[in-house]
Amino acid sequence: MCGISGIVGSADVTKRLYSCMLNLEYRGYDSCGMAVLADGQIDVRKNIGRVAEVFEKERFAELSGTIGIAHSRWATHGNPTKANSHPHTSCDGRIAVVHNGIIGNYQPLKDELIAAGHKFTSETDTEVLAHLLEHNYKACGNFERSVREAMERMEGTYAFAALSADHPDTFFCGRNRSPLIIGIGKDANFIGSDIVAFIEYTKKVAYLNDNEYAIVSKDGFEIKNASTGKPQARAIDTVAWDAEQAKKGGYPHFLLKEIYEQPNALREALEIDEKKIEAVADIMNEADRTYLIGCGTTFYAALLAQYYFKEFAGVYAPAVSSDEFPNLCGVDERTAVLAISQSGETFDTLEALRYAKRHGAKTIAIVNALGSSMTREVDFVIMQGAGPEKSVLSTKAMTSQITVLTRIALELSKRRGALPKTELNEISDGLLELGTIVRSVLDEQPGFIRRIANRVGHFNKWLYIGRSYHLPAALEAALKLKEVTYIPAEGMAGGFMKHGPISLVDEEMAVVVLMPPPENEALHRSTFNSVSEMRSRGGKMIGIHFDPWESVFDEQIVLPKVHKALAPIPQLVVGQLLAYFMAILLKRDPDNPRGLAKSVTVE
Ligand code: AGP
Repeated sequence: MCGISGIVGSADVTKRLYSCMLNLEYRGYDSCGMAVLADGQIDVRKNIGRVAEVFEKERFAELSGTIGIAHSRWATHGNPTKANSHPHTSCDGRIAVVHNGIIGNYQPLKDELIAAGHKFTSETDTEVLAHLLEHNYKACGNFERSVREAMERMEGTYAFAALSADHPDTFFCGRNRSPLIIGIGKDANFIGSDIVAFIEYTKKVAYLNDNEYAIVSKDGFEIKNASTGKPQARAIDTVAWDAEQAKKGGYPHFLLKEIYEQPNALREALEIDEKKIEAVADIMNEADRTYLIGCGTTFYAALLAQYYFKEFAGVYAPAVSSDEFPNLCGVDERTAVLAISQSGETFDTLEALRYAKRHGAKTIAIVNALGSSMTREVDFVIMQGAGPEKSVLSTKAMTSQITVLTRIALELSKRRGALPKTELNEISDGLLELGTIVRSVLDEQPGFIRRIANRVGHFNKWLYIGRSYHLPAALEAALKLKEVTYIPAEGMAGGFMKHGPISLVDEEMAVVVLMPPPENEALHRSTFNSVSEMRSRGGKMIGIHFDPWESVFDEQIVLPKVHKALAPIPQLVVGQLLAYFMAILLKRDPDNPRGLAKSVTVE
């Protein structure tokens, strides 16, 4: 949830650490801090607020040195306060740590350290690590051993970096189930919770595995196993992303940039090696059952794919929210579990996959973030190649995931002989045209959608209605609106409305209807019935539809022709743009909505 970075090099590190912090701000942004070691002293600056604010307020520019660590926080243990911000220090101030994740057994460790005379100044679990390192170091006089011993004692999911005033040329870092990547530069070496932290300085990376720590100096790094202390060989990879891709590229917000990157993201998804798609179809074909899992947006991607697997391949592959998966679903060696995750770090999805693995299931993941934990834990991975997604709201990652899942469903259909070849070809052709259709929505609709947002921006209750394929899209469009505007918005199945929720509808409710194309006759008719029911109760009716002759809505966005099964995808793009323009109208921060973090790496 938080973002860790660190640099050791020959030049002053402050400016670079600041840029790493900005690049990782998407992971958490309630407070931040930096520790720089120079002349045998560690100087720590930190406070609540966004990185740029704290940088000014705490005069980070005054810090100078060739080694430092930094952190942007998303509070878990302890409120966002200056005292709870990272870095945290030992009693003597000669050790500083930053941490991401949760030290599950921090309370007994803290009690033990307090009993041994340590004074705590924060409510965080992280501070335990600073004191534990100090305690170990005082006992053995060897900092590396202190790190190992601390890792042996800490339980939970964590990644950390530690500076010791007695070690001016190296910092130590370790991980267990939280991401941490080493960047190998020309005149400096880096660490980051994500490659984007340091991508403008180097594309050469080495991945730390669970239960490993690294000793990083300006000349290199050494990775060791925390239980045995044995050195671990590690290959150095070169990542394909460049720094520019990870920046805003002229757009006012990452959210808008990423919405506009969808045609490219879709193209990348279509270019994923056929063999990978076939391999997943084979696994699903051989399994007794495949579960599709994800959280939030990726759960909705799974839900839409559930319709596609049923419709195209005749296969029931239930979509289950990862957090409930272990509570709900039994798995065994005959089960496959296909996880979807932009970050590849979502705690609930990782835990669900681990649960599946423990019970012998075959695990697959569709992931966007390079080098993330999920890519290394599952049996088979498909990398989406959608490029870095930095806005907290997932947009291009989702439409790309749907493209990949549709390809898998079509491939599975071939194995099952579920659809006639002509129908399969029609859907494949529809998929190939999708990028152009999304491009035309992005070229032609934004001005229109913005004007609609201006007219309906005063509504404080929103419903998004869809049936069949359009239901997951309605759920996702509602999620987009609520997470970025903080307006209560619900996605609902058209057929469900009359069983209770329709009592909510009155003149004060905006109702967005995701209409199927008219050629999907039965679905069109049933959705139309829902429209009539809500219209007669006074709802402000907003239609996202495909029929230029339609006139039943108060506001409408008419989309270009698309294969009927793929119609939810341009509707999702409209939902994203509507949420974006509503956020602008209401002066919300489109990239960093309150209380959210990009990847949810805690329970
Ligand atoms: C999307 O807009 C959300 N911020 C959130 O639901 C997100 O999709 C979810 O947390 C899953 O993240 P992942 O794709 O990185 O696993």
